[in-house]
Amino acid sequence: MSVHLNEDTRKVTTHRLFEMKQRGEKISMLTAYDYTMANLIDTAGIDVILVGDSASNVMAGNVTTLPITLDQMIYHGKSVVRGVKRALVVVDMPFGTYQTGEIEAVQNAIKMMKITHADALKLEGGVEIIDAIKRIIDAGIPIMGHLGLMPQSINKYGTYTVRAKEETEAEKLIKDAHALEEVGCFAIVLEKIPAALAERVAKEVKIPVIGIGAGGAVDGQVLVCADMLGMTNGFSPRFLRRYANLSEIVTKAVQNYIEDVKSHDFPNKDEQY
Ligand code: KIV
Repeated sequence: MSVHLNEDTRKVTTHRLFEMKQRGEKISMLTAYDYTMANLIDTAGIDVILVGDSASNVMAGNVTTLPITLDQMIYHGKSVVRGVKRALVVVDMPFGTYQTGEIEAVQNAIKMMKITHADALKLEGGVEIIDAIKRIIDAGIPIMGHLGLMPQSINKYGTYTVRAKEETEAEKLIKDAHALEEVGCFAIVLEKIPAALAERVAKEVKIPVIGIGAGGAVDGQVLVCADMLGMTNGFSPRFLRRYANLSEIVTKAVQNYIEDVKSHDFPNKDEQY
């Protein structure tokens, strides 16, 4: 099968994502939290890089995304932006930085944009945070919404199971998606919801809908990079396709290194001064 990889080296913008949806070109998105990985996946041609607050789990080993701070997300955002030429870089606003009122939300969003030089921010939630989103967009900052399973609300749900299977929650999600579009969000992430519901949302809104565990009838897909590269083997939800087994490769490489050091094989004469 011939695959369309990005020969187009122009910077990805929110407007270009909108055009991709209009012409039916799927949007590819992955997470990154550091310069080296961001540079690799940007060079490979990814459209959007998300500096996700999943950094809390993947980089810091926390059980949830809640503990990561604004300053820690700024550190990750800055590191990623330095490694990227083409992809649109979106940074997650962490838990507690936008739920306490519009003024605090816009101040934190401005701080994030000024220091990281990211292209856009992502916030979890619908109508409950619509005033904060409006205020941030009015300040000139593009916002990606996030509905369905919102990991910052995990303590409210008590489970990471599929969201919006019941009609009431599904209807609310549809209303939230329309509200996010109307307030001016440039895209929406839908996490872990039934594929038919995600398809309906993607058809009803004009802005791109990026899914994770939301089926194939949306406008693009996002995965956590460490998961799709097989670095986090304990985590195996149905929606996750692994494209490499880096944990095996890394373990083998480290074992070979240990063996070479212990056996006096490394360094050899050509590997010294
Ligand atoms: O933080 C994150 O990695 C995310 C993705 C799962 C969409 O929000």
